[in-house]
Amino acid sequence: MCGIVGYVGSQVSSRAQDVVMEGLARLEYRGYDSAGIALVADGAIESRKRSGKLANLISDIGQHPLAASSTAIGHTRWATHGGPTDANAHPHLGGPDGKLALIHNGIIENFHALRTELLEAGVEFASETDTEVVAHLLARAYDGDLTTAMRAVVARLEGAFTLLAVHVDQPGVVVGARRNSPLVVGLGEGENFLGSDVAAFIGYTREAMELEQDQIVTITPDRVEVIGFDGESAKGKTFHVDWDAAAAEKGGHEWFMEKEIHEQPQAVADTLLGRTDETGALVLDELRISEEQLRNVDRITFVACGTAAYAGMVAKYAIERWTRIPVEVALAHEFRYCDPIADERTLVVSISQSGETMDTLMAVKHAHDLGALTVSICNTHGATIPRESDAVLYTHAGPEIAVASTKGFLAQITACYLLGLYLAQLRGESYADDARVVLTELHETPDRIAEVLDRLDRVREIAHFMADTRSVLFLGRHVGYPIALEGALKLKELAYIHAEGFAAGELKHGPIALIEPGQPVFIVVPGPDTPHGLHGKVVSNIQEIRARGARTIVIAQDGDTAVEPFADEVIRVPRTSPMLQPLLTAVPLQVFAMELANAKGLDVDQPRNLAKSVTVE
Ligand code: F6R
Repeated sequence: MCGIVGYVGSQVSSRAQDVVMEGLARLEYRGYDSAGIALVADGAIESRKRSGKLANLISDIGQHPLAASSTAIGHTRWATHGGPTDANAHPHLGGPDGKLALIHNGIIENFHALRTELLEAGVEFASETDTEVVAHLLARAYDGDLTTAMRAVVARLEGAFTLLAVHVDQPGVVVGARRNSPLVVGLGEGENFLGSDVAAFIGYTREAMELEQDQIVTITPDRVEVIGFDGESAKGKTFHVDWDAAAAEKGGHEWFMEKEIHEQPQAVADTLLGRTDETGALVLDELRISEEQLRNVDRITFVACGTAAYAGMVAKYAIERWTRIPVEVALAHEFRYCDPIADERTLVVSISQSGETMDTLMAVKHAHDLGALTVSICNTHGATIPRESDAVLYTHAGPEIAVASTKGFLAQITACYLLGLYLAQLRGESYADDARVVLTELHETPDRIAEVLDRLDRVREIAHFMADTRSVLFLGRHVGYPIALEGALKLKELAYIHAEGFAAGELKHGPIALIEPGQPVFIVVPGPDTPHGLHGKVVSNIQEIRARGARTIVIAQDGDTAVEPFADEVIRVPRTSPMLQPLLTAVPLQVFAMELANAKGLDVDQPRNLAKSVTVE
């Protein structure tokens, strides 16, 4: 939530503005309520900010160009305190003479008290934001050194924040601070960068530096200095970004989401890459928790939100079967409040594409405090959640820019399966053979996903016919149940259509009353060889709703003819073993939601009210 960019170079030119505006374009997925930029130019702060999407700011700058500069900061906002207006847009200026500019991602929880104190001291505010409070505090604390002022101010702040500031009296310096919100440094030659994530500066450098919690960073054109909030000097951990600017472009697709859907075979293949030895056994080197500790695990809890939580729900079915360890899935924002049971034999696995979701981060910290072992499944190198965890299993889906998660989801399921199969291998449980077959089949899955992607013309047509639909239901059972929930979530968030996902067996306990003639219902059908006769039960469920007039759109495996008499539409996916079906059946539902949003003329990549990275609780 909120994207942040900072830049210092040695030349006074248009580069500072170009770098920051390009960074904002790449970070816009983090929030698009407003955008703004501030430059230190000719002994003053030149600031421009506009509500609405970045395009509004670009058009404003086109009409009234900004001055040349060597030092700039920029912000793209997801509104928290104060509506999405020009006045509430960042940057905010501090001090009566506006000599300081500040941008912020996060929430200052004690801002009321601080604002009252400043009002009593005669400070006038131009916005309703918590950020402006910090700008004024910083201006008042400034006594010739911005880093020192930042140290004094962060000591007074409660909550989560990344802050970037510039001051007129120190051109060529940007100072950043972070607590529970993301900030990375981009290392250039004769120039340096700051960003909420590496996408901010990927067009300029692939060398980056992680910052720890509670650190302040000062960048100049040729220096990066890190200190803790306590003033102790610190050393950031450098890393090389293994993707380039092209990976953060649309690559000829209309939407990032479309591109990311098409990248799913690669995302799954890359997540599997290098995780088996020559005998085919799993070797999860990066897991950093001893085999003995893992053998002793007697409970697994997934903590995650939204789509990532559905990945956990899919994994529950698989991991319980393969390991016989009880698995529960907790929505991260509820976890802390249900007095969770966890100790040193509990493995708490967080799933987060961004690695920055505040609810998930807080759940991980709570689990850690309870003494649990914490593993992060994450797609973003150097993000906060993996750093706060005992171990990390990275998904290798590449940058996910569209707000709605797609390739991140499939990569999450894949990584969860790797973890489950690894535990099964360590423990030698009764279903080890089953697990071995799945591991072999997992490696064939990218080709099967590619096959699904080749067959989606009918899904696109159905989406276009349904552009005026007001409600869609989704049914599934077993691992198909979370996929039904995911199909409904995708449709809600992208097409703003009322959608509900149900376990198909639950229908007769109430929701079947919703079925009336013409009601569209998607049904994710388990393969005919799914244990416990589930296939037959779902076919009966389809019959039941069809008899009441539902329009049934069935997702079924190749060769499953039993569904045909009761289906208005059949969308085929290749045959695969039951646990791997979610990696195929999720794809038509993603495409359906995307196409329907497209047919309604909506912004597929940036749905209303949302942001990619949810860094507030
Ligand atoms: C839905 C979606 C969200 C995220 C959720 C968690 O398409 O993208 O529901 O899955 O906000 O985000 P991460 O995985 O970054 O923690």
